[in-house]
Amino acid sequence: SLIYVLNGPNLNLLGKRQPEIYGHDTLRDVEALCVAAAGDHQIRFLQSNWEGQLIDWIHEARDEAAAIVINPAALTHTSVAVLDALNSFDGPVVEVHISQVHKREKFRHHSFVSLRADAVIAGMGVAGYGAAVRHVATLIG
Ligand code: DQA
Repeated sequence: SLIYVLNGPNLNLLGKRQPEIYGHDTLRDVEALCVAAAGDHQIRFLQSNWEGQLIDWIHEARDEAAAIVINPAALTHTSVAVLDALNSFDGPVVEVHISQVHKREKFRHHSFVSLRADAVIAGMGVAGYGAAVRHVATLIG
């Protein structure tokens, strides 16, 4: 079945933006890593800088996807709307952060999305996406 992997604002610049925090791999590399981790499952890998676009994709996932892996980026810390959208989705949800957000500024310690997430990964670098995909693949069978 299909796993949505959603990426929020600024992650299109992954590999170029603050590499000391987020590393040198690009979002294309992350997509390849997710496909490799998915086994027999399919991946739909998406990124937007727009909150509303991410919400529309989460709504689409209600009909299309068995699970969602999401790195909401800065929207993690601000968006009740992304949380509400995820609460409309019935399958497993895993929240991923490349960096260890709890070691960083205090405003990154709170996540609205964690109120919905079945698992949260932070600080594994981009390998966290692979772990998240393998976990939801196990959950959906
Ligand atoms: C991030 C952490 C967020 O605090 C930040 O706004 C991001 C990326 C991460 O993957 O570590 O853009 O979600």
